Amino acid sequence: MEYRRLGKSGLQVSALSLGSWVTFGNQISDDVAEQLMIKAYEAGVNFFDNSETYAHGKSEIVMGNILKKLNWDRDTWMVSSKAFWGRTENPKPNQKGLMRKHLVEGCHAALKRLQVEYLDLYFCHRPDVNTPIEETVWTMHNLVTQGKILYWGTSEWNAQQITEAHYWCVKNSLIAPVVEQPQYNMLQRTKVEADYVPLYETFGLGTTIWSPLVSGLLTDKYFDGSVKEEKTRMDLMAWLKERAMGDTVKLEKIRKLYELAKENGMPLSHLGLCWCLKNKNVSTVILGASKVSQLEENLKSLDSLPKLTDEVMAKIEEILQNKPLSVAF
Ligand SMILES: NC(=O)c1ccc[n+]([C@@H]2O[C@H](COP(=O)([O-])OP(=O)(O)OC[C@H]3O[C@@H](n4cnc5c(N)ncnc54)[C@H](OP(=O)(O)O)[C@@H]3O)[C@@H](O)[C@H]2O)c1
Repeated sequence: MEYRRLGKSGLQVSALSLGSWVTFGNQISDDVAEQLMIKAYEAGVNFFDNSETYAHGKSEIVMGNILKKLNWDRDTWMVSSKAFWGRTENPKPNQKGLMRKHLVEGCHAALKRLQVEYLDLYFCHRPDVNTPIEETVWTMHNLVTQGKILYWGTSEWNAQQITEAHYWCVKNSLIAPVVEQPQYNMLQRTKVEADYVPLYETFGLGTTIWSPLVSGLLTDKYFDGSVKEEKTRMDLMAWLKERAMGDTVKLEKIRKLYELAKENGMPLSHLGLCWCLKNKNVSTVILGASKVSQLEENLKSLDSLPKLTDEVMAKIEEILQNKPLSVAF
């Protein structure tokens, strides 16, 4: 396993980590969840990603039970939670959002579900236009000083919102966010490759990127026919299927990527994951898996990294034709 610094912080995070969205407490049994965590940990993964909203809190309960059972040394792994959407399907006012009340109560509830004394990372899962950023920043600072969270960050905030958070931190000598959790993959590039560019240097922003395989679309099974034999996330979530597979031009590009991966002796998943890892502003690529065999394949992607030569990267760019324009300073 390779370890990277989480932005300018001293925290070392495994280049591949494991998340629980859709899977834990929902698509997969608790036994499979446990096997996934063991497989990941044994391969050197030290970060497990979660959120209050995943399976309405059940994902954290499942992960917490597994962490307790396995009893790994607490200083060898990290766990996150995220607040914003709330835990219930129809949250009442103050059961969601980034106001002091929900952030504090959401943190306490996540600590209980995960059965830990502190969260290593706590994310603001989306920006909250109804709460002043100053209130959110002060709350996160206080949670750090109380020892309830160690590092904090944002997810899918825009560059302006992250900059505003840093403004309040500098103004009041508060502990600043170190990390953003954006979607990043071959089809979704703008935030990471253009919008955030000034933030990496200025604030030392790290990134824990999600859906590196576009919810599984960047895997062989959709192109070699094997998908017919199994129920996938696309079957569970119709809106996601429409978003991911409704665009024939996009699908044709992915078919070409599948062929390129084959020519270079690797599965499409490796091409997709290594392409993310090649970006030095990516601190960790969060993997998702509904089967142990998927995770095994994905963890091996580090071995394929040398195959993504400049020539292969140029061929990928030629297929994608979606390189975002860099921001002008
Ligand atoms: N901050 C946010 O807003 C946000 C949003 C989404 C996710 N996340 C985090 O990021 C993590 C990763 O995102 P993701 O789960 O969307 O990642 P992903 O890698 O894009 O998709 C994972 C899914 O793809 C399929 N898959 C993965 N590897 C495969 C392989 N080798 N062969 C065949 N199918 C494979 C599996 O689904 P099937 O078997 O069902 O096809 C698996 O559950 C999440 O668990 C969560 O922790 C954060």
